[in-house]
Amino acid sequence: MILHKKFKYDISVSKEVIWWNYWDHEHLDIVHSGYKSADIIYENEKVYLGYFTVKAPFVPFLSFSFPIMGVYENENTYVVHSFQYSIPSKFTFTTKEKDNGQTEIEMDYKFHLKGLKIFFYPFINFFIKKWNHKVWKEDLPLKKRRQMVLDLGFKDFHGLPDQIKDRVRKDKIQFKLPIPRPRKSPRDQYILNKNISNFEK
Ligand SMILES: [Fe+2]
Repeated sequence: MILHKKFKYDISVSKEVIWWNYWDHEHLDIVHSGYKSADIIYENEKVYLGYFTVKAPFVPFLSFSFPIMGVYENENTYVVHSFQYSIPSKFTFTTKEKDNGQTEIEMDYKFHLKGLKIFFYPFINFFIKKWNHKVWKEDLPLKKRRQMVLDLGFKDFHGLPDQIKDRVRKDKIQFKLPIPRPRKSPRDQYILNKNISNFEK
């Protein structure tokens, strides 16, 4: 059985800012109260593999972990594969730019439920809507603020132009993966990626 849910939002930011928000792993456990930890195991210009730990719904003192893979399929499509409680899921996010400067984003969630896991259907059905609205609300100020500063000529790791008269965006907004992270970022602490040996002192 496939549980299939779709959500649509219009937002007055560019698709590049929407994708930046999805691929900015740095904010996950700072902005979203549901995340406990998030290791990024591998990442390149098209894909990442992560291992996330989130608080269990309704029992926040319990948490569960799962592997997750994100794929930037093309400039309008981002796909996430995951396995929460061994339930395979596929989330597809697509963007469409509109004439009025808005971007439409469609979020398509699919869960494959079989055997006894079919009993989870009503629970996931309820929870995914709650989770989607919560995460959307938590991310909204980040996206709007990012769009605002980019329109003022902000450059990552450089800031805004010194002169106020220069604070206008001159180029099209670029989106390039992977998004640079600070050195020693909490996202880059996956133990097997460290150069540690039992023989090391
Ligand atoms: Fe987020």
